[in-house]
Amino acid sequence: MHNPASRVPSDSWWRGAAIYQLYVRSFADGNGDGIGDLAGAIARLPYLAALGVDAIWFNPWYPSPMSDAGYDIADYRSVDPVFGSLADADTLIAEAHALGIRIIIDVVPNHCSSAHPWFASALLAGAGSAERDRFWFRPGRGPGGDQPPNNWQSIFGGPAWTRTTAPDGTPGEWYLHLFAPEQPDFNWACPAVRLEFEDVLRFWFERGVDGVRIDSAALLSKDPALPDVDPGAAPGPAHPYTDRDDVHSIYRSWRAIADEKPGRVLIGEVWLPDTARLARYVNPGELHTVFNFPYLSCPWSAVELRQVIDQALALADAPATWVLSNHDVDRIVTRYGRTDTAFSLDRRQYFHGFPVDLALGTRRARAAALLTMALPGSVYIYQGEELGLWEVQDIPDDLRQDPIWHRTGGADPGRDGSRVPLPWSGTEPPFGFSLFGAAAEPWLRQPKEWRDLTVAASSANDGSMLRLYRDALRIRGSEPALLDTPMTWQPSQDGVLAFDRGLSFPHGTAVRCVANLSPAPVALPPNAEILLASGPLAGAQLPPDTTAWLCVEGRGAILA
Ligand code: NOJ
Ligand code: CA
Repeated sequence: MHNPASRVPSDSWWRGAAIYQLYVRSFADGNGDGIGDLAGAIARLPYLAALGVDAIWFNPWYPSPMSDAGYDIADYRSVDPVFGSLADADTLIAEAHALGIRIIIDVVPNHCSSAHPWFASALLAGAGSAERDRFWFRPGRGPGGDQPPNNWQSIFGGPAWTRTTAPDGTPGEWYLHLFAPEQPDFNWACPAVRLEFEDVLRFWFERGVDGVRIDSAALLSKDPALPDVDPGAAPGPAHPYTDRDDVHSIYRSWRAIADEKPGRVLIGEVWLPDTARLARYVNPGELHTVFNFPYLSCPWSAVELRQVIDQALALADAPATWVLSNHDVDRIVTRYGRTDTAFSLDRRQYFHGFPVDLALGTRRARAAALLTMALPGSVYIYQGEELGLWEVQDIPDDLRQDPIWHRTGGADPGRDGSRVPLPWSGTEPPFGFSLFGAAAEPWLRQPKEWRDLTVAASSANDGSMLRLYRDALRIRGSEPALLDTPMTWQPSQDGVLAFDRGLSFPHGTAVRCVANLSPAPVALPPNAEILLASGPLAGAQLPPDTTAWLCVEGRGAILA
């Protein structure tokens, strides 16, 4: 079996890693309650080893009231009983390591759960207390203090402030939550908050975790004056809560902790439009990489993708990352099957209004997978992407769980459609989601059409998305031309992206990736061997919405 561990230098494994994003609630259910868990993930590790990934990033598994699917953490040093126990996490880490797979966990430092003991004690301790200083409590404005302290809006809709009520029922101070009211924001100017998270990092690193994905990494620092924000204010030093300069000292101390043992990685979730500001997060001594959200938002357009690729490669101090989708955005086959193939978080409602051509979306998603996996840097695969799952857009309203849906009064459909449990086997829902038989239905219903996309059906089908991902990951992980080598754009016609990876002439093999995003077929170089293609070729022609990897001995030959 392909063993990723054998080819990666252990200290810098993350530079070119293929990282599988495992959304634990929807991956595999080990105990039949209809909710994915660590036992299910452990049982399915051989599937991920056979897929050929180097690491798994787990979405939060901590104890949580699940007001935001676990991004509302009540205890940073434990595992929610619905997912298992700390002992299960230890087993998972050990068994993954034995298969050559690293484990990355999600750490959420911007906010906790309103059920976190610190927040409960802050409510009890009252105004002006040290307990409240760990959060942002303020009196309201206006007569009786019944207006929020400022005009900040929650990213999930509605005001970013909620008023507290004293035990005797009188209204009290307000507290800040950039997300749901159940997610109070920490005050990172408070030394106790810094110390607490440094300890949390050590706790998990000592358990053998290899990396940390940092949630909402640009939001931690707030202007202590809490001024109103101008609606169009750009992130940066003058913004009251996004991408302020102070945030970098936090990551410098986190990097020192990660570096106590070589090979640990810090990955930032930083949504910023300005590449120069983004680059600061991967300055020497800070984070190792940041997610490439411009790539994930980019339409299926050669001109725009090339621009985004060049910008990512210009983040000189860090390898680029390539992300097509995650648990917060529409699934890729759906997005590429629309006439507008871009994505943005704040326009989800608009995108959901488009009809979807799933066959077209799937063809493009296959082409995008090969384009993505040929680029230099690390690549993320959101669970189900490798099966070609689509966004489930018709979830009945009463089954929707996402706070975005609830807090926008249903205006924004939210993210449930990308979080539907995986289909593993069989011809009917729940498709083997619960490993040993289910007492309960999966927490969200799977479409019955997914019978053709189960892991079992896909494994038996040469033309499946799964077979393409397995082949691509195997080649990407074993072909020397694709291992930590630079890329060079090649001349190509409009609508086509062509680049070479590999050693310079006369050393070894070069791999050329040609992605045809134009509406017409394009000729492939006559002397090239086809390593892999995302769809059938028409003789020596690459059809529209298709990508091919070509191999030629020696760079001189491929350029000829
Ligand atoms: C980003 C996470 O990916 C998302 O799922 C979550 O709702 C917010 N941060 C808040 O933690
Ligand atoms: Ca379960």
